[in-house]
Amino acid sequence: MREGTETLVRRELYSAPAYWIRSVDLSFDLDPIKTLVISRMQVEPNSAFAGHHEALRLDGEDITVTRVQVNGQSISFRLENGQLVLENLPSEPFQLEIRNTCSPEKNTRLNGLYTSGGGFFTQCEAQGFRRITFFLDRPDVMATFKVTLRANKQSYPVLLSNGNKVESGDLDHGRHYAVWVDPHPKPCYLFALVAANLVCREQRVVSRTGKDHLLQVYVRSGDLDKTEHAMQSLVAALIWDEARFGLSLDLERFMIVAVSDFNMGAMENKGLNIFNTKFVLANPATATDVDFGNVEAVVGHEYFHNWTGNRVTCRDWFQLSLKEGLTVYRDQEFTQDMAGSPSARAVKRIEDVRQLRQIQFAEDAGPMAHPVRPDSYQAIDNFYTSTVYEKGAEVVRMMATLVGRAGFARGMTLYFERFDGQAVTCDDFAQAISDANPDSALAPRLEAFKRWYAQSGTPRVQASGEYDADNRRYTLTLSQSCPATPGQSEKQPFVIPVALGLLDREGRALPMQFVGGPLASPTERLLVLEEASQSFTFINLDSAPVPSLLRGFSAPVILQAQASQDDLLTLLRHDSDAFNRWEAGQQLGLERLLAAVQADQNGEEPTLDAAFIDAMQALLRDESLDAAFRELLLTLPSESYVAERLVERGVAVDPQTIHRVRDAFRAQLAQALHADWAAVWDKHAQTGGYSPDAISSGRRALANLALANLVLDAARSGDTVWPGRAYQRCKDATNMTDRLGALSALVQAHAELAEPALARFHAQFQGEALVIDKWFTLQATAPESNGRVFARVKALAQHPDFSVKNPNRARSLLMALTQNPAAFHRADAAGYVFWAEKVIEIDAINRQLAARLARGLDRWRTLAEPQRGAAQEALQRVAAKPDLSADVREIVSRALAA
Ligand code: PHE
Ligand code: ZN
Repeated sequence: MREGTETLVRRELYSAPAYWIRSVDLSFDLDPIKTLVISRMQVEPNSAFAGHHEALRLDGEDITVTRVQVNGQSISFRLENGQLVLENLPSEPFQLEIRNTCSPEKNTRLNGLYTSGGGFFTQCEAQGFRRITFFLDRPDVMATFKVTLRANKQSYPVLLSNGNKVESGDLDHGRHYAVWVDPHPKPCYLFALVAANLVCREQRVVSRTGKDHLLQVYVRSGDLDKTEHAMQSLVAALIWDEARFGLSLDLERFMIVAVSDFNMGAMENKGLNIFNTKFVLANPATATDVDFGNVEAVVGHEYFHNWTGNRVTCRDWFQLSLKEGLTVYRDQEFTQDMAGSPSARAVKRIEDVRQLRQIQFAEDAGPMAHPVRPDSYQAIDNFYTSTVYEKGAEVVRMMATLVGRAGFARGMTLYFERFDGQAVTCDDFAQAISDANPDSALAPRLEAFKRWYAQSGTPRVQASGEYDADNRRYTLTLSQSCPATPGQSEKQPFVIPVALGLLDREGRALPMQFVGGPLASPTERLLVLEEASQSFTFINLDSAPVPSLLRGFSAPVILQAQASQDDLLTLLRHDSDAFNRWEAGQQLGLERLLAAVQADQNGEEPTLDAAFIDAMQALLRDESLDAAFRELLLTLPSESYVAERLVERGVAVDPQTIHRVRDAFRAQLAQALHADWAAVWDKHAQTGGYSPDAISSGRRALANLALANLVLDAARSGDTVWPGRAYQRCKDATNMTDRLGALSALVQAHAELAEPALARFHAQFQGEALVIDKWFTLQATAPESNGRVFARVKALAQHPDFSVKNPNRARSLLMALTQNPAAFHRADAAGYVFWAEKVIEIDAINRQLAARLARGLDRWRTLAEPQRGAAQEALQRVAAKPDLSADVREIVSRALAA
């Protein structure tokens, strides 16, 4: 096995395989203790390797080979670094048969073939197939698969694999079998099998091509009443991809299977998607609006992979963003279109950007910073990151912005014309988009644009404007820079699309004309910043305009605009771009948070000024704004976002101070706007029958924010009415969004009624694993107060319902803790000691999960003392474990590297 060898895999060293595997016939005798796998492969020497004396090296991990035959004759083999090495092979195509065994029940890593809830499931991306049988486990080797499954019929009545079922029947000894054929050649990471006791919801649909398809969602028998939304989302995704990109389903049968033990969100195995239950199961009683939204997004995401990922796949794992960035872009566009109104679309965009800035920007500033197309890795599983996914999606979005909506659709068409059925690279994708749009803003600067794939770090864009009253001109100067990141000290300029509008002081949109430019004077323009610094001059302006920069967040950069308070207030009140309205409000709040954190050192009490409170009040009262938008406007920037902004200003982060300041501001907003919160509550608390649509969910979100403020203010005033109402709502709510909102209001305010409400909630939802996860998370993410939240987390780690073996459950408590800065980053280091213990404990069971948790201390260097030193010690303690997995080792050694 390769345990302990920290080999670095490099993108530059890619070479084509010495052999191809064209088809594979797999047979499984499924048994939890010992499963027998027989693999018959059609192998072909790669003609590019002249002389073909190459050994065939097949990947394998934690499996036992029992026999190898070539063209029906047993041959000798050796094992080297876990690989099965075969020499003196025929120079003509040959048949290779391998028998091996594996142990699904012992497979706690949930990678390869494993058991969960009494069934068999697989997970092969990125390198799980080698844990099932010996193979060329790399995405550029594509084969057709035929799969025969044999298992006990009573325990495993449902037998599934990719493609179409061609045969099934009974066998002796209570066993049965099924044969599946997938006609589409695919890399082995898209292989899947399921053998379990499941039921399914079915629907037939006819696609644009006139073909008939069978859609199925498989779940455990008690969960059938939670499958309607997933099925509706799947049908919607199917229709959307045909309408937007002309892409139809290429399969007779498309299956989704839910499994409760799963490391990630879901997996796009060809025709047989396997999902974490969290992203399939939803009904109003157990799932919140956020869950409904996530199910829609993830069902869409995996479905869209059928083209972007499966029909055209990645040449190697460095190209991961080829499929992930593009598919995230597609699911974001899908969910925006599903949201409907322009305002609801903007809300979705704001949520996506908030996530990107919170997680990806921090990643890009820390020890794990890597390009969208990484250059090297130790454990590929560590590179399923926000950078590859979310920043990758922004890179695709910028291309779409530069070539226009129709141009992007043309580019996609060319991409599939060129590469259908192939394993390709990020360069291939960018080239296709560009070639389809030779006259676009992208084509002439494609090479420079592709630096987005190669350079890590978040670019900074400085903007400064100057108004020349005599000549009625306004000159905007934009310049860019990008801080050094691990392995990249110097950066070349990025190609940055900057969507711009100009407003007058009354907030009216101004026509924008360039010197000598065309007469057309639109009120929004797309500037392309591609040099270190560039100036843009606009003419015929009667007064100094207020610039609205980077509308819709047109590029993943940090804007340093130094806008005045007045400018920000103008944008907040009037900008026609909803994203920038929200952003202006965040900026106003952020500046106050930062100033108060600094002032705290002089013992000054954090106090919000009347101007800010008035602005927030006006927004809260503004009935012309959607409830969802108001909820976003009235939410202050998060503690971790504030921390990153402090880092940028060279200030060491004290999470305790940030927390104290933000909490004080929240309390002040709760008090000052008490009457408004009550009015908002009265107007939005009752939403009638449940529907997850954008309008109703927005109303619920705003009502929950109002209730949280009212219960919080009660903690100050001693009022018992609002906590009582919240408690009542916990009992009586008819949907999970309202119920959890009310419970959360009590828990977040540390109200006395929180305890009985939590107990009641737990009793009511025993047996609903996904709801119990929420119960854990709610307690772990409550605002820290005198260490009680951390103490609660430690106690909950001993709760009979807690287990680190189930990834959802482990995340619901432990990841939640690391995302609660004030509870985690304690001055006494207890948070870090606990973290180190859990990382080590989980690493022995599930290294992928442990590596995710290990990232909780990525930003330790930004901390003030004593946290900084204590965090370093905790990291060193983990790193000192000699038998650490490569996954965790890569994370902690990067974190500790200078
Ligand atoms: N490819 C999956 C997706 O994003 C993610 C995944 C990666 C799932 C690795 C499991 C393992 O759709
Ligand atoms: Zn994906």
